[in-house]
Amino acid sequence: MQRIANPHILAALAIAVATAIAAGLLGGQPQIVLIVLIGAVAAALLAARKPEPLVLSPTPAPDTTPTVAAVLEGISEPVLLIERNRVSAANEAARTLLGAHILDEDVRVAIRHPAAAQRLMADDEKEAGPIHLVGLGTRDQRWEMHVHPLDGDQRLVHLIDRTGSHAAEKMRVDFVANASHELRTPLASLLGFIETLRDGAGEDAETRERFLKIMHGEAQRMQRLIDDLISLSRIEAEKFRAPNEAVDLGALVREVCGVLGEEGGERARDLRVEIAPTTPVRGDRAQLSQLLHNVIGNALKYGRSGTPVAVTLAPEGEMTRLSVADKGDGIAPQHLPRLTERFYRVDAGRSHAVGGTGLGLSIVRHIVERHRGRLDIASVVGTGTTVTILLPARKLS
Ligand SMILES: Nc1ncnc2c1ncn2[C@@H]1O[C@H](COP(=O)(O)OP(=O)(O)OP(=O)(O)O)[C@@H](O)[C@H]1O
Ligand SMILES: [Mg+2]
Repeated sequence: MQRIANPHILAALAIAVATAIAAGLLGGQPQIVLIVLIGAVAAALLAARKPEPLVLSPTPAPDTTPTVAAVLEGISEPVLLIERNRVSAANEAARTLLGAHILDEDVRVAIRHPAAAQRLMADDEKEAGPIHLVGLGTRDQRWEMHVHPLDGDQRLVHLIDRTGSHAAEKMRVDFVANASHELRTPLASLLGFIETLRDGAGEDAETRERFLKIMHGEAQRMQRLIDDLISLSRIEAEKFRAPNEAVDLGALVREVCGVLGEEGGERARDLRVEIAPTTPVRGDRAQLSQLLHNVIGNALKYGRSGTPVAVTLAPEGEMTRLSVADKGDGIAPQHLPRLTERFYRVDAGRSHAVGGTGLGLSIVRHIVERHRGRLDIASVVGTGTTVTILLPARKLS
């Protein structure tokens, strides 16, 4: 039972009793007095009941579940929702790849590719894995298509762009094939001469000497190639670690030109070096020396004997600009974009004849990239070639 403590109830009781007494005093029948009293007490007890808490029907929370279309839009790769072979939703990436018209179209028309159509018609969807599509979008693009069955007649088609990884894989395979080929040629030559010497050709001292000279040259070529391969992989491995030595490029250019001048014989006299005062560059001294050897070495090798090779160093805004210009035969425009590819040579015979590995400019490009610099090769056939390299100056911190 509830305790009657509410002052309103006590007041109600008091009024009830007072009314009953008043009714009695006014000559009311005792039954009437009793009825009034019972009614008043009943009213007071009713009032004593704890009021029912007010229960408000809960306000429905706003629906925050995203729509299927919104979820698909959040995915950067092309995704399509298929319902009974019709495209019921497609995100922006899918519309960009396949066209804005694909909504509500038959999926085999939307993804116009025979392999895709075959896969989408596969009987056992769970068994069938992803498939590769070549030429969807642009001619060279490669996609991996996944089909996920959903509830009912719905399926999710997901396309993943594999163009980049395919190109990287192809480059790796080509690189191994090219490197093996480059090593095999001098090795075959060495083995041939060894055989010939064994068969008695070495008895004649003059012939033996001639053969040994060739063998020495071939072995050196292999060594150069291996050294270049090792430095290329080292530079690539360090690519994301910016160098932080302060390198006086002017002094380094003088030093490298001095070394090349000593090695270069006649051609060394064609070197014209012009060095303006520059702030030190932020770099890796050994790698910058290798870069200078390659670029100035190329100008000396491929420029015409007796024509000048101009090496200039000057500040350019926040950067230091190195330019190496020769007056050689030049390079035809179609070769220019490929010059920094590994083993790419314009004239393989000429490169071999001057002992080139075809890795020099590829090494140069990687060194420039690691130094956050810029490389530009400009050439006019019959006039000559100018290689320009911009390197950031070392920040004073
Ligand atoms: N200054 C230049 N003038 C004309 N052709 C050039 C010049 N520099 C480079 N080339 C061409 O570009 C090709 C690639 O040059 P790169 O320096 O990468 O290789 P390489 O000189 O053949 O060999 P390496 O530098 O490894 O000894 C050369 O084979 C040559 O055909
Ligand atoms: Mg070279």
